[in-house]
Amino acid sequence: MSETSASPFDNVRAVTWNDGRLQLLDQRRLPDRAVYLEYQDPIDVADAIRDMVVRGAPAIGITAAYAVVLAAKQAYLEGADKWRILIEAAMEKLAAARPTAVNLHWALKRMQALFPGIEGDPEPVLLAAARAIHDEDIAANQAMGKAGAALLGESKAVLTHCNTGSLATGGFGTALGVIRAARQAGYLEMVYVDETRPWLQGSRLTAWELMQDKIPVTLLTDSAAGYLMSQGSIQWVIVGADRVAANGDVANKIGTYGLAVAARHHAVKMMVVAPCSSFDLDTPSGDLIPVEDRGPDEILQFNGRQIAPGGVPAWNPVFDITPAALIDVIVTEKGVIETPDRQKIAAVLA
Ligand code: MRU
Repeated sequence: MSETSASPFDNVRAVTWNDGRLQLLDQRRLPDRAVYLEYQDPIDVADAIRDMVVRGAPAIGITAAYAVVLAAKQAYLEGADKWRILIEAAMEKLAAARPTAVNLHWALKRMQALFPGIEGDPEPVLLAAARAIHDEDIAANQAMGKAGAALLGESKAVLTHCNTGSLATGGFGTALGVIRAARQAGYLEMVYVDETRPWLQGSRLTAWELMQDKIPVTLLTDSAAGYLMSQGSIQWVIVGADRVAANGDVANKIGTYGLAVAARHHAVKMMVVAPCSSFDLDTPSGDLIPVEDRGPDEILQFNGRQIAPGGVPAWNPVFDITPAALIDVIVTEKGVIETPDRQKIAAVLA
């Protein structure tokens, strides 16, 4: 079930649904405090996604699906015959909350596709769909975990970037799911984690998750990753994805592209772990993926304190595009895609 842990290596849930209420673990406050915020209004949920209470592509999609349930509940109370129209404003706000993670749009479309067939109160049908999206994501992560771990062979150490764990998904994680599965199988002596400037998903979230699971972790600055590779310390870079284009180009947390370039130079393998809900076959290549720019404050300030000279311009794209040619393998729940290209991706996703 979506709200319980399926493994001793999986003890956190970012998104839960209880008694008609959505609860989100406020990731802005981790690792200091684990506080759940409760939501009954879908517009508040859209704000929570924009403000990073919840983040990570699959977790955002699941959250949006539950927000549609909240919107339907409100809209049906207002007018039993026109809930479909009333719900649309909330869906537009949800869709606009973050532009790069395609799971958000995928989940909203999947919920909307049910509207024409619903008679009477939409809540039970939509809640069942949201729960299915949540449960399917956990199942996909566990399948990808096994498939990805099987590729690691005798690898002793890997590097991961951003947070791709239970906090970023329904549970277990994508790239972190592979790492969890490898540890469960008795492999991997060390997981290196980039801090992940500027929001510090690596230090605040991934290091926290790994420590909860007692998986050996070493934190490094993003700029130390190339040197780590040059020392021969890691065999794989393992990351998630916010959107995979039809040709295998991958949008993921800013810094991923630089890791892929350095990995190729040092003959370190590059693995992307992404469920089918992160693929966007309507977008032919990575240059057409919208990249979110979160504005300069995340760079100019730290914990609310100015750390750069007043007035200095800053550029803060929070994702980048890694070309398929720099990726050795994409792991999905439907199969593993080595040296990904358009044909192989279409065949696995078909
Ligand atoms: O800005 P964020 O924290 O939402 O970015 C998250 C990432 O880039 C993750 O790597 C991606 O969503 C894959 S998570 C399963």
